[in-house]
Amino acid sequence: MKKKTFSIAAIGMVAALGVIIGAPIQAQEFGPVPQADIDAAKAALGKRLFFDPRLSGDAAISCSTCHNPEKGFADGLPLAKAYPGSDGFRNAPTLINASLKAAWFHDGRLGTNLNDVTRESITETYTMNMDMRLMQERIKQDPIYVEMFAAAGYGEPSNGSVRKAIPEYLKTLTSRGSPYDTGLMSDSATRGFELFKGKAGCAECHSGPRFTDDTPHNTGAPENPEIWSNPLRHVTFVSFAKFMGISNYMNLRRDPGASIRTNLVDGSDIGTFMTPSLRELTYTAPYMHNGMIGSLADVVAFYNDGGGEDPNMDARIQPLGLSAEEQADLVAFLEALSGDPLTSDEHVWPDKIDVNYKPIENWLDARN
Ligand code: HEC
Ligand code: HEC
Repeated sequence: MKKKTFSIAAIGMVAALGVIIGAPIQAQEFGPVPQADIDAAKAALGKRLFFDPRLSGDAAISCSTCHNPEKGFADGLPLAKAYPGSDGFRNAPTLINASLKAAWFHDGRLGTNLNDVTRESITETYTMNMDMRLMQERIKQDPIYVEMFAAAGYGEPSNGSVRKAIPEYLKTLTSRGSPYDTGLMSDSATRGFELFKGKAGCAECHSGPRFTDDTPHNTGAPENPEIWSNPLRHVTFVSFAKFMGISNYMNLRRDPGASIRTNLVDGSDIGTFMTPSLRELTYTAPYMHNGMIGSLADVVAFYNDGGGEDPNMDARIQPLGLSAEEQADLVAFLEALSGDPLTSDEHVWPDKIDVNYKPIENWLDARN
């Protein structure tokens, strides 16, 4: 885990500058999600790795355990699972369009690239708990990987190439076909979009093709008490907080959010979280960093009531006074941002991966 990263510091500086000189931060243009150029052989390899449980220490879970295509590459749970023997303390985010983010994880603690996020996901004890050297030895013994790494131009299977191939696959996970993109929004959704940009103030933070400013804010979303009442979750949370350098980690009863990066002396950054993308929401309930809000209607009601109780809540979150019909229109708009499911072979490795493969004969001769 890295405590601070350069690019997120830069984003913070730009945001701070906007405040200092009094200029409103310009909302980005809305529009379709840009599609990246994909190297097909590298992405196919990344796809197999993503669904392969051998990338976890005890070969029990794969990336797809928590990022399930049927659930919009999230997991449908309020709080994610974790490596067997522990349990998670945050909601698993969708990976659709995640390759376009400026910083990753709910607190934005990794602001470099998906190569680092992939390494972190594989090696982090509560995620896949894998030693990269062991992973490399495992994949080198699988004849299918030997072929696929060569076909992708990577030579022999290696840990460095795994960290390139998975991000190439993640680039294929982009939104398409939503009523918003095809121009087929209902009248209700169209009215909802006007509210979203206007009276409801949502576009203050949710702007651009992914409907996010890639910046942390405090919405006052309530804590999830499960993190403190369930010892398997609490132990994971405590080790995370300790690793992040929080001094009273044993007593901490709230998620520090992005304050682990900003560390403001007055603590006013505690409970800020990265603005999430609003695409593919119909697949990814429940919502917020800790899954505390179950439905889109409840999210809209939450904002209509002026957000949560937090004294540090962003000043732009205020009671909205929307009628029941206006709230329904906003929900219809949010639903119109979901497109085709990414559940066919194009995005899902079709075969069950046999973890009891026959090793290649000459694996001892492999050079790296
Ligand atoms: C045990 C569940 C679990 C597994 C397995 C898992 N993840 Fe995640 N993933 C999460 C959770 C939970 C988060 C959010 C963590 C946080 O905010 O602190 C996350 C965050 C991410 C993000 C950042 C998304 C964003 O919007 O910022 C990426 C990218 C990602 N995971 C990719 C992977 C890859 C690649 C693998 C396999 C190598 C993987 N994950 C395995 C649970 C999991
Ligand atoms: C001040 C910035 C800000 C404003 C204004 C704002 N949001 Fe958010 N929104 C956020 C942040 C930050 C989160 C993540 C909070 C968390 O994870 O606890 C979020 C979360 C959400 C989510 C949950 C997404 C998910 O995947 O979990 C939805 C849906 C949402 N907002 C919709 C809206 C709507 C609709 C409006 C207008 C009524 C709005 N937001 C106004 C910053 C904002």
